[in-house]
Amino acid sequence: MRTLTVLGSTGSIGTNTLDVVRRSRHLYQVYALAAGRNVDALLSQILEFRPKVAVVATSDGLARLSGRLADAGLPRADWPELLSGEAALVQIAAAAEVDTVISAIVGVSGLAATYEAARRGKRIGLANKEVLVSGGRLVMAAVREYGAELLPVDSEHNGAHQCLRAGNRAQVARLILTASGGPFRNTPREALAFVTPDQALNHPTWRMGNRITIDSATLMNKGFEVIEACWLFDFTPSQVDVVIHPQSSVHAMIEYSDGSVLAQISATDMRMPIQYALTYPERCDAPVPKIDWTEARKWEFLAPDYEKFPLLRLAYKCLEAGGAATCTLNAADEIAVEAFLEGRIGFTSIYEIVSETLAGIPARNPESISELLAIDQESREKARTLVATRSGAVTA
Ligand SMILES: NC(=O)c1ccc[n+]([C@@H]2O[C@H](COP(=O)([O-])OP(=O)(O)OC[C@H]3O[C@@H](n4cnc5c(N)ncnc54)[C@H](OP(=O)(O)O)[C@@H]3O)[C@@H](O)[C@H]2O)c1
Repeated sequence: MRTLTVLGSTGSIGTNTLDVVRRSRHLYQVYALAAGRNVDALLSQILEFRPKVAVVATSDGLARLSGRLADAGLPRADWPELLSGEAALVQIAAAAEVDTVISAIVGVSGLAATYEAARRGKRIGLANKEVLVSGGRLVMAAVREYGAELLPVDSEHNGAHQCLRAGNRAQVARLILTASGGPFRNTPREALAFVTPDQALNHPTWRMGNRITIDSATLMNKGFEVIEACWLFDFTPSQVDVVIHPQSSVHAMIEYSDGSVLAQISATDMRMPIQYALTYPERCDAPVPKIDWTEARKWEFLAPDYEKFPLLRLAYKCLEAGGAATCTLNAADEIAVEAFLEGRIGFTSIYEIVSETLAGIPARNPESISELLAIDQESREKARTLVATRSGAVTA
């Protein structure tokens, strides 16, 4: 039986994780759940899964959660311990009772907690992008030093993990990550400046949180995945290629040195990779649709358009630059995406904000998570200033 902490339990990955748990209750117990602001969703998860600890982002949220628990009539003796803030995330990720942490908070708020889980040698089901995009060098060093198990939940990396199991790592030539191409795959480049947040949020194949959905529309998400793949599987940037595959059925392919290619194929349902991360090296029945091979289907594979989606190329450049460049890339992108969703900048300005932020932040090699988080903050400030200048210019 695995004892879990779920960081980001109310989000898309978090709720899918709890659905996996719900369907195999004999395999898991939930030690702790952590959410941001959605106290109502957390309340119903507490009532169903009875964790020992529940964490929310703020003390205000904590007060609201206490009120909801009281209203729900749960006897005080059955309440979980209630905590708030980032120190509490670290506490539940590092707790001795826990052997497995699902890292599914969106943003850098999940970084320190995931790092501490690695330092305690836990199994980590990794969905959160920032952990490796921002902190890849430090986190992977901790994983190696403390013998943690890092199992990717992201469907592409999970697919790569599966394909790599089939052969000898020394004989791998390259990894091919697939990308759906997002909602603007067929939109002319000149029209991108005018697309709306609603259009960008309309992902053709996946239902996910807002940030990752916009990052999929700009292909920034695929750039992040290239960065994550290099850290996870020890590839150089030139060994990781991206191919557009609009049907999102093939998630990743590994090409071996003799030219043979192994592909991982499954339905677009995150419960499969989540369950894989929980049960590895075993496989169990998963509640996901199976592919019907008798159904007529067409799978396409196309080259990405790096001119139309320049953030993908920028990710490779940051990876090659090393140091904190990928941390700044992520921080600036988060601010730019937020500004786009608020209608303060246009879609194509996301790239402009990110590349201008990168140009304005000096290269550094952070030696600790706190140094890294300071660079993250500095990059956000720079990006916010650039957004303000730009949105001021739009209204003027
Ligand atoms: N969704 C996918 O299919 C998918 C696939 C691959 C990778 N990922 C990655 O996985 C991560 C989560 O994605 P998602 O789509 O599940 O995002 P999401 O639906 O937006 O959920 C984010 C979760 O993080 C919580 N959260 C935010 N700030 C927090 C804080 N300060 N403290 C504690 N919890 C906090 C949210 O809580 P509240 O909702 O309560 O505020 C929510 O539970 C992202 O890094 C994403 O890139 C997602």
